[in-house]
Amino acid sequence: MKVVTTISDVRAITGLAHKAGETVGFVPTMGALHDGHRSLMKAARSECGSVGVSVFVNPTQFGPGEDFDTYPRALAADEAICKAENVDWLFAPPVSEMFPDSARTTVHVSGLTEVLCGLTRPGHFDGVTTVVAKLFLICGSGRAYFGRKDAQQLAVVRQMVKDLNLPIAVIDCPTVREKDGLAMSSRNAGLSANERQAATVIPRALRQVLDQIVAGERSPRAVAKMLTEMLASEPIAQVEYVEVVDADTLTSLICEPVSPLTGNVLLAVAVRFGSVRLIDNASVVIENNGPEVVY
Ligand code: PAJ
Repeated sequence: MKVVTTISDVRAITGLAHKAGETVGFVPTMGALHDGHRSLMKAARSECGSVGVSVFVNPTQFGPGEDFDTYPRALAADEAICKAENVDWLFAPPVSEMFPDSARTTVHVSGLTEVLCGLTRPGHFDGVTTVVAKLFLICGSGRAYFGRKDAQQLAVVRQMVKDLNLPIAVIDCPTVREKDGLAMSSRNAGLSANERQAATVIPRALRQVLDQIVAGERSPRAVAKMLTEMLASEPIAQVEYVEVVDADTLTSLICEPVSPLTGNVLLAVAVRFGSVRLIDNASVVIENNGPEVVY
């Protein structure tokens, strides 16, 4: 596996792959890699001739007072994981390579970025789309792998790719969970034992509400209320948001005019445990032949 730190090295590697007629498969990450990231690498490996992973803790997607400084960094372990997954190249640039002081351009996707996580993390998605657009342009055409765990990020990146006609196929992969259901996240490492235990309320709440929808519940408000109450039943959980939205447009289904749940519905939550903010979601496609759950 080649480990590189410059944009020109990535261009050289992917340029050769393109010339050889190989599909470039790319997995952007912020490192502290876990089995969720590994599932994206496996998907890329099974579909592409040249597989690359980026590890870059992107300062532009962290707001003031957020966890940029304390975000876990573990490059040696990340390198070993990428090697074990047969990744061909790992791109781990310094901040100055991606964002020199002279940088003046950002990419903004409107609408989808002002809701859900965008409400409490203003500017976060501009940081994400700017770095992801840069990474896509550095890699050239190919396939890029994203987790459904970050459902809003996925929707925003898809919109950006469509709007900018980027030659990238965005592939979404299922959320990988711990045995007790907690979605894997680099931030889980920051939970105390007590908080880690309490955090299992998130997957329990999502599952319980999905069961209610499968059993016939179609009121968006009842669903949101149930989810909020379940999360709040855990004393140390601080609920930041509970939303029921259209999975594609991210428009709230709780706002007026409220109508019975139908189509592709996303249940999305953000919950704090101490200083750690966790997000999770589940979706359900409600069509004539009954609901189909993605959790
Ligand atoms: P990061 O949080 O490191 O996540 C990298 C990718 O791994 C994202 O596509 C995310 O959805 C996916 N992922 C994380 N946890 C997962 C899980 N439990 N199951 C499946 N996939 C999971 O998301 C980012 O980094 C950054 O915003 C980035 C896109 C790299 C831009 O900086």
